[in-house]
Amino acid sequence: MVLIVGCGILGQYVLKEVLQNTDEKVLCTYHAAKPALRFEVGERVRFRQCDVTNRGDLQALSTLCGGERLTVFYCAAYHNIDAVFEHPRQAHQVNVEGLELFFETMRNIDSLYFASTDCVYGESQAGSKPFCETDACAPINEYGRQKLSAEKIVLAHGYRVFRFSLLYGASPDKNRKSFYDKTVAALQAGEQVEMIDGLSRCAIAYAEAAKCITRLALSGESLPPILNICGESLMTKYELGLLIARQCGASAEQVEKISKEEGKKFFKDKRADCIDLSRSVTLQILMQKG
Ligand SMILES: NC(=O)c1ccc[n+]([C@@H]2O[C@H](COP(=O)([O-])OP(=O)(O)OC[C@H]3O[C@@H](n4cnc5c(N)ncnc54)[C@H](OP(=O)(O)O)[C@@H]3O)[C@@H](O)[C@H]2O)c1
Repeated sequence: MVLIVGCGILGQYVLKEVLQNTDEKVLCTYHAAKPALRFEVGERVRFRQCDVTNRGDLQALSTLCGGERLTVFYCAAYHNIDAVFEHPRQAHQVNVEGLELFFETMRNIDSLYFASTDCVYGESQAGSKPFCETDACAPINEYGRQKLSAEKIVLAHGYRVFRFSLLYGASPDKNRKSFYDKTVAALQAGEQVEMIDGLSRCAIAYAEAAKCITRLALSGESLPPILNICGESLMTKYELGLLIARQCGASAEQVEKISKEEGKKFFKDKRADCIDLSRSVTLQILMQKG
C-alpha cells in the first residue's frame, strides 16, 4: 500500500501518478482540511486526518494501515520560510519531532521517500559548480536547518531523501491556492505582478517532479540515499513570472521586475540569491530505467 503523509499539493500530484501507473491502494493523510481534488480518485484511495505531532493520530493511522507493507511518500511540513523563522519551536515540532514520532509509531515501512529542499545546501557562490548530492550542506535559514535535521533522521532509518528545488504549478485542491494559482488569477484579472530579478532556482513543475519521484520510488530498485529533483537550468523569480504569464496567455508586460534589494525587504529570514542544483545523478538513474 502507498501512504502519502501530508497530502498537500506535491502529495496530490504524486497520488495522481500512483493511480495512473500502479494498482496500489493509497492512504492519504491531511492535516487541517480534507482536500477537494479536481480529479477522480475512486475506491482505491482513502483519506485520513493526521497531525504528525499527535501520537494518538499516528497510532490510529498505524492501526488503519492494518499491518500492510508500506511505501511512504512523506510530504508533511511546516515550510513557509518566514513562518518557520517566526515560529521556530512550532515548526520544529512538525518538521523534526513529528517525523521522529512517525518513525516511533509506524510499522511495516518497506520504503520511505522524504520531501526535502534545496535550502539545505545554502547558497551557490559565483562561478561555483551546481550542488550535487554529496556536497557539504550549509543552510542559511531556519527552514533549511530543520529540513537538514529531518534528513538525518530519515537517513539514519535507512530511507531516502529527495531534495526539491522550487516547485510551481496549479493546485489540484479546489480549496488550496498555490503561488502559481494566485499569480495566474492576478494576471488574468489584468493586474500587474511584481517579481524579483533574482533568487535564482532550478525550478521544476509539480507535475514533472511528481512523475520523476514516483518513477524512481516505484521502480523497486535501490536508489542513492539522496537525489536532487530540479529543472534543467536556473531561473530568477522574474523569469518564472514570465513563464507563468506565457502559460496562462497573459502579457509579459504585466510582469514587473523588482530588484533583489526591494524584494528582500519583505522577507523575515534569509534567502539564498542562487541555489544551483545538479540533476545529473537523477537523470542518469532515470535513463538506466528506460
Ligand atoms: N513548494 C515548494 O516549492 C517546495 C520546494 C522544496 C521542498 N518542498 C517540500 O515538499 C513538501 C510538500 O510541499 P508542498 O509544496 O506540497 O506544500 P503543501 O501543499 O503545503 O504540503 C505540505 C503538507 O503538510 C501538511 N502539514 C503541515 N503541518 C502538518 C502536521 N502537523 N501534521 C501533518 N501534516 C501537516 C500540510 O497540511 P495543512 O496545510 O493542512 O497544514 C500540507 O498538506 C514539503 O515537505 C516541503 O517542505 C516544497
